[in-house]
Amino acid sequence: MEVLEVLPLDRWDAPIDPALGRRATAALEGGRILYFPNLAFPLSEAERRVLGAGTADGTRKNVSYDPETGRCKGTALQGAEARTLAEVMARFSDAAMGLLLGLAPGYGRSLERARTSFRPAEIAGRQMPWRKDDTLLHVDAFPTRPTAGRRILRVFSNVDPEGVPRRWLVGEPFEEHARRFAPRLRGPLPGAATALNLLRLTKTRRSRYDHMMLQLHDAAKRDAEYQAAARAPGAPRPPIEFPPGSTWIVYTDLVPHAALAGRNAFEQTFHLEPASMADPARAPVKVLEGLMGRALV
Ligand code: SIN
Ligand code: FE
Repeated sequence: MEVLEVLPLDRWDAPIDPALGRRATAALEGGRILYFPNLAFPLSEAERRVLGAGTADGTRKNVSYDPETGRCKGTALQGAEARTLAEVMARFSDAAMGLLLGLAPGYGRSLERARTSFRPAEIAGRQMPWRKDDTLLHVDAFPTRPTAGRRILRVFSNVDPEGVPRRWLVGEPFEEHARRFAPRLRGPLPGAATALNLLRLTKTRRSRYDHMMLQLHDAAKRDAEYQAAARAPGAPRPPIEFPPGSTWIVYTDLVPHAALAGRNAFEQTFHLEPASMADPARAPVKVLEGLMGRALV
């Protein structure tokens, strides 16, 4: 299977032919990455300056923006510069939302906009504890943010001013990935979800689905042999490069991915109810329920 579905759009608000939208939605839900080689996120000189040195405050790897509150985290900028930063984050967030709804109008029924991030730091060579190391193949699942089966859909755009591409590795289709690690997935301990929630370690109650997705995330990252085989010369899927001026959209809960190198990217996260998909059977919750023979949410 080709990993990339290439779409020639060059404007974020371009009207999208419904047939193209259906093709894009099917590709996305089928585990491919929608790739827009000519869709650059435009930045003014002032915005470039603000995004340059010193946006991240050193406590986090990214600057994050909450479209609900309009607040940025992870920046040391103040005053007018902080406002410019918040404005550019908001503009990226709106552009990403507009693009996605143009491609998949049906998603509007439950599309929820989560955090926006700006990722200035070079990924290659960064030291991270294994669980947070995104240079290792994984599907997205976050310990503090249960989704209860809702999808995680992300829009990325590379805005590096010096031509540095973002390099990704992409793994096998989800069902194959889940089957590979299924023997290592354990159910939650009785009472664990309640305890985590009471201790406020999760924002909402962790469903059995969330538990399984975290186990899958961890099992893949911990498997050194699996990780090495995906990187070996002649591996089935060579790394992909997303150059500056390009944009891509992917279900990161479905497509095993690793970010190997790159810097200066924007990202917007969305959540979606499986029922709003063109084909809900392709949601990871449905695939895992099928494999395990039981309800997970
Ligand atoms: C990730 O979701 O694992 C990181 C993706 C990226 O920053 O390119
Ligand atoms: Fe990820």
